[in-house]
Amino acid sequence: MTSPQSAVLTETAASRPGAEWWRTAVIYQIYPRSFADSSGDGIGDLRGVTAHLADLEDLGIDAIWLSPFQRSPQKDAGYDVSDYCDVDPIFGTLDDFDAMLAEAHARDIRIIVDLVPNHSSDQHEWFQQALAAAPGSRERARYMFRDGRGENGELPPNNWDSVFGGPAWTRITEADGSPGQWYLHLFDTSQPDFDWTNEEVREEFRRILRFWLDRGVDGFRVDVAHGLIKADGLPDYTPSPEGGSMGGDEANVPYWGQDGVHEVYRDWHLLLAEYDGDRALCAEAWLPTPERTAEWVRPDEMHQAFNFAYLETGWDAAALRAVVDRSIAAYSAVGAPSTWVLSNHDVVRHASRLALTAENPQGHGIGPDSPGQPIPEVGLARARAVTTVMLALPGSAYLYQGEELGLPEVIDIPGDARQDPTWFRTNGERYGRDGCRVPIPWTSDGAAYGFSPSGESWLPQPAEWATLARDVQTTDADSTLSLYRTLIAQRAAYGLGANDLEWIDVPGGADEAEVLAFRTGDLTVVANTGSTAVPLPAGRVVVASGPLGDGTLPGDTAVWLAQD
Ligand code: NOJ
Repeated sequence: MTSPQSAVLTETAASRPGAEWWRTAVIYQIYPRSFADSSGDGIGDLRGVTAHLADLEDLGIDAIWLSPFQRSPQKDAGYDVSDYCDVDPIFGTLDDFDAMLAEAHARDIRIIVDLVPNHSSDQHEWFQQALAAAPGSRERARYMFRDGRGENGELPPNNWDSVFGGPAWTRITEADGSPGQWYLHLFDTSQPDFDWTNEEVREEFRRILRFWLDRGVDGFRVDVAHGLIKADGLPDYTPSPEGGSMGGDEANVPYWGQDGVHEVYRDWHLLLAEYDGDRALCAEAWLPTPERTAEWVRPDEMHQAFNFAYLETGWDAAALRAVVDRSIAAYSAVGAPSTWVLSNHDVVRHASRLALTAENPQGHGIGPDSPGQPIPEVGLARARAVTTVMLALPGSAYLYQGEELGLPEVIDIPGDARQDPTWFRTNGERYGRDGCRVPIPWTSDGAAYGFSPSGESWLPQPAEWATLARDVQTTDADSTLSLYRTLIAQRAAYGLGANDLEWIDVPGGADEAEVLAFRTGDLTVVANTGSTAVPLPAGRVVVASGPLGDGTLPGDTAVWLAQD
């Protein structure tokens, strides 16, 4: 099946098993509400994306992952979908989507869209029908409704907590006004979980996949891909307090990583295979190990999975070497590429995270009172260096909008401006994820730093955006933007994503705990995670993440060297 929008790319990229585009692609995440606002309402939109595709082509990326833009009450920034086959009016229309897709394809940029199958919005037609219907009805069976425990059903069906804090169950009032059943929501109360044991739910999602594939999308990033199936009997479970929000740290969680989810992805794999152009599925699955995550990308399941083990590794040479080895081994064992990712809309931006000096579980965020505040210059140097490592690794790499500008986490967002449900559901105990979602700066002196023509911005932008704006970085050869452009261009020139990696001795007897060195194709990559300069091996400097010493590689710096 060929759709008009996909024609440009499929003609130039005939499928060759083992050489599919997603194996080596650099994929740029657009979080549409914070990317570019064309309408002036302070929320980014699809026309804003189209208007900046030339900038992304200039950056050199291969594909875009577009976070949710479907119709939604926006209780969780679009991860609460009320109509899976329409565009939310705040982002535009289906015509705007088609225009954006066609323009991206004309520039050789693929588009994968977010798909949210674990839960819908409570405003979804099906959930509204379920509320109006009786217990035991077909309408209720599409979601996880259960009777409560206790004499009068006044206690939730089990002890599960929501990822955003508070209980994972909400009791409804039945149509006759009596206290009723409870429904499960692993996230906000406005996000009821579907019952994926129900064939009707499966069939509906096949329809949704086809809707977007027929429009020409190149694939899907699948939200909460480890959560669709819950353990039989819904047994009680108490997570460890140190765990990250998305729950990947522990084995045997009754709502994460249940075996039954794989059946769903085998089905989707076959459905995507009916289409041309190597359409791809990428799993957002927070699981305890790379080996577990690799189960999501077995040959008949998804194509990629986010490598959160890499994202969660600190700026430490030995730990990085270990996670790279373990990832490559785990994913190669199932014939999949590893992905590499450092930032997204759910985690503290890596330009801040890598300089935190206190524990900060995923999803908790940082605010003015958080312990271990990062030193911005240290964070930025480490971010530039670890990205320099990442973009040389074999496999596919994901970037998050704004990291190419070196944006830090915004820490001092006032409480009354915060929007993440995590902030409300924990009564401010966890700051949540707003700090990585602040609209990005395009121009140093434009309205809302060029984000919005009206100067509006749905989260307040900090004054430092003026010095980090894209326009001032474009002409500065030492800027983070210039570094990213060079890394992506040289990665393509040296074919890096497709090469093998071979660790080599660290230069000049440096400490292996602080320095890592590997060869990939014709390049040598060296990174110094310590604070003492080490000798720079021989070779022509292709790119360096920061200033080099005289024949030395300073701390918090990485370099690519060619042997020609
Ligand atoms: C993961 C998404 O990335 C996150 O932003 C969202 O809140 C949850 N899934 C729930 O959909």
